[in-house]
Amino acid sequence: MIIEQTEQRELAPWTEKLLPSPTAELEARVARLQQGGVKVYRFGLGQPDFPTPEHAKEAAVEAIRNNFTGYTDTAGIAPLREAIADALQQQCGVLYAPDEIVVSSGGKHSLFNAFNTLLRSGDEVLLPIPYWVSFPEQIKFAGAKPVFIQTDARTGYKVTPAMLEKQLTPSTRMLVLNQPGNPSGAVYSRAELEDIARFCIKHNLWAISDEVYSCFVFNEEGFTSLAGLPGMKERTVLINAVSKTYSMTGWRIGYAAAPAPVAAAMLKLQSHTTSNPSSIAQMAALAAISGPQDQVEQMRCVYRDRREILATGVNRIRGLYCLVPEGAFYVWVDASEWLGKTLCGTVVDSMDTLAEILLSRSNVAVMPGTGFGSPAHLRLSYAISMEEIQDGLNEIGKLLGYKE
Ligand SMILES: Cc1ncc(COP(=O)(O)O)c(C=O)c1O
Repeated sequence: MIIEQTEQRELAPWTEKLLPSPTAELEARVARLQQGGVKVYRFGLGQPDFPTPEHAKEAAVEAIRNNFTGYTDTAGIAPLREAIADALQQQCGVLYAPDEIVVSSGGKHSLFNAFNTLLRSGDEVLLPIPYWVSFPEQIKFAGAKPVFIQTDARTGYKVTPAMLEKQLTPSTRMLVLNQPGNPSGAVYSRAELEDIARFCIKHNLWAISDEVYSCFVFNEEGFTSLAGLPGMKERTVLINAVSKTYSMTGWRIGYAAAPAPVAAAMLKLQSHTTSNPSSIAQMAALAAISGPQDQVEQMRCVYRDRREILATGVNRIRGLYCLVPEGAFYVWVDASEWLGKTLCGTVVDSMDTLAEILLSRSNVAVMPGTGFGSPAHLRLSYAISMEEIQDGLNEIGKLLGYKE
């Protein structure tokens, strides 16, 4: 009787519109293979392969011992917001007051709060392709419409104001910029960001600046924050997290820095949904952000070396092309030459098919570009050991062959 009633009831309309997270699906599948004893080359992973810094772990243990296990300020404990404000001043040159910072349960949660605070039904949001998988779904959930801007290797997968201008309508309300980019690894120079800032100001747009990979930039110029450019702080929500920077993906601590009225509205939403993020994880995040930063620099150097090996290796394999990325820990591979070809008796009709063949025939897990807005690319992560990168590249080479 109860089952019958459930079947008759309709679910909320968003359930029809949102796609499940493809990255989570792949990770679950790889985990099942590994549990069955299969050695999988895990280029699909979006999480660092380093341990959380010892001092962060110790702080969490201390928090538990000291019974720091109750509710906290919904926006996060004051020392953590002060430490975040200090870090943002140092890294981005932007001054934030603690009441302009809201700590949430991961960067994804901070983005959710931001979209649902700034967007109105029918608003349009400029979103460069390739995009990180959750952006379009979160924008749709907030009742707005993602408007995609196609980029390609010629511009290093970056947008320019001229490209954005073409998609402007009276409903355009926001630009989402994620740099260093997942999946492209693209990093914008200060000059490029200044052009984008002028565009946002001219057209009175909000900007979401997703900077979760800001500590992993390999070029000479380094990282510039869109929020730090003149006239941008008041129209930008800066998103960051301890997840990638400190190898703390499972601790679920992210934050948004935003103009005070926006931060207050995001806080209101958080106060009725999740309340504060875990008190214990906040203590760990505080230790990570305010403690020694040498492990971050060590990780950056390791990623820099791995990306050279991976990008060089990929470019030797038949039908695969990539740029050497300037940031994050992904290589964005153009595999369009394989479309329509037959591989292992199967016609490669999409990147999903190519990824499936790589996994089933060679135990190589990669992310098809489909979920990132591209039918022609694969994303390979180098958050795995050098040995796994080299062995995995050999497997891909054996399957696809090498360039002449
Ligand atoms: C571009 C981008 N933004 C945000 C996130 C979310 O990070 P978190 O794990 O802190 O929710 C990710 C995670 O993969 C990401 O790649």
